[in-house]
Amino acid sequence: MSSTFGTLFRVTTFGESHGKGVGAIVDGCPPGLDLSENDIQPQLDRRRPGQTKLTTDRQEADQVTILSGVENGRVLGTPIGMSVANKDQRPGDYEEMRSVPRPSHADYTYQMKYGIRTSSGGGRSSARETIGRVAAGAIAEKFLYADYGVEIVAWVSSVGTVSGGDIDENLITRATVDQNPVRCPSARHAEQMMQAIMAAKEDNDSLGGIVSCVCRHVPAGLGEPVFDKMEARLAQAMLSIPATKGFEIGSGFGGTRLAGSQHNDPFVKKEGRLGTITNNSGGVQGGISNGEPIVFRVAFKPPATIGKAQHTADFKGRNTTLEAKGRHDPCVVPRAVPIVETMAALVIGDLALRQRAR
Ligand SMILES: Cc1cc2nc3c(=O)[nH]c(=O)nc-3n(C[C@H](O)[C@H](O)[C@H](O)COP(=O)(O)O)c2cc1C
Repeated sequence: MSSTFGTLFRVTTFGESHGKGVGAIVDGCPPGLDLSENDIQPQLDRRRPGQTKLTTDRQEADQVTILSGVENGRVLGTPIGMSVANKDQRPGDYEEMRSVPRPSHADYTYQMKYGIRTSSGGGRSSARETIGRVAAGAIAEKFLYADYGVEIVAWVSSVGTVSGGDIDENLITRATVDQNPVRCPSARHAEQMMQAIMAAKEDNDSLGGIVSCVCRHVPAGLGEPVFDKMEARLAQAMLSIPATKGFEIGSGFGGTRLAGSQHNDPFVKKEGRLGTITNNSGGVQGGISNGEPIVFRVAFKPPATIGKAQHTADFKGRNTTLEAKGRHDPCVVPRAVPIVETMAALVIGDLALRQRAR
């Protein structure tokens, strides 16, 4: 199992959803950076369960403790260890799932791969694993902003069949995204999304959605052709987030409907650099950032664990019906926003250090 991501800014996450705790070790953060728990906690607070009625009721404070690698508020350059305790475990909620693998969850595949799996919850496949990534990515965000002024903002651009309207990627901020619990910056569309999520929840069902993301002020030149192209690393990072089903950058799949003359991004002089008039490339050409905003979208499926009765089979192949108990997210995208942002920071932070190392 690979729990490590990155080449020079490297993060290893650890922990299961119903074990004692989760966390991460970050190796390679540039020394001297000012850092405390206060830099990491805000993104963990945006990710944590139990925030609103739109998310799972599991109550976790998700308070991070920095164990190593920081002294007197400054990064030492040695491994930064971070831990978060699990407090609100309810193993009894998973009783009926011991013999019945949840349809479209990871119970069956983990059992097939390892021959053993955690007795309750999803273990490493649970979204609690993402706490370690978010904590590590918050450090990458801090270093990227300090050294380059990089700003990363993600938002919910659709929930089920409700889309989020037009958003100006140059102006959007985390403050506008967080104005409502669904994290869609358009208040009118956010209201429709919230109603859709609440209706699915009441029906013991779940909904998918799309998280969009913009990374501004990324300097030109980041990305390592040919296998570690910027978009290849972003795609890997995003598709490693649980429940993701798709990734597109720039014009994405929609760009296939345009002619080259419509799709090309003509060059123009911009504030002392060469920029482009349009940004169908999504800020990346040839796998290397071109100085324009990096813009991409990530598709999330409807979460698998639902209270609605489903016909399925147990591990022995006997027909059965599963009605999942316990506390689960009816839609993951509001909580996925900080996960997408911090994974983007891990990719860009790593590629920035690789560019410096040339
Ligand atoms: C923020 C977040 C919260 C999630 N919450 C749930 C949940 O409550 N119930 C569930 O079945 N899946 C949830 N998931 C998704 C599962 O972890 C994931 O679907 C499962 O591990 C199977 O992996 P796969 O969907 O990537 O194939 C969540 C994912 C994210 C990103």
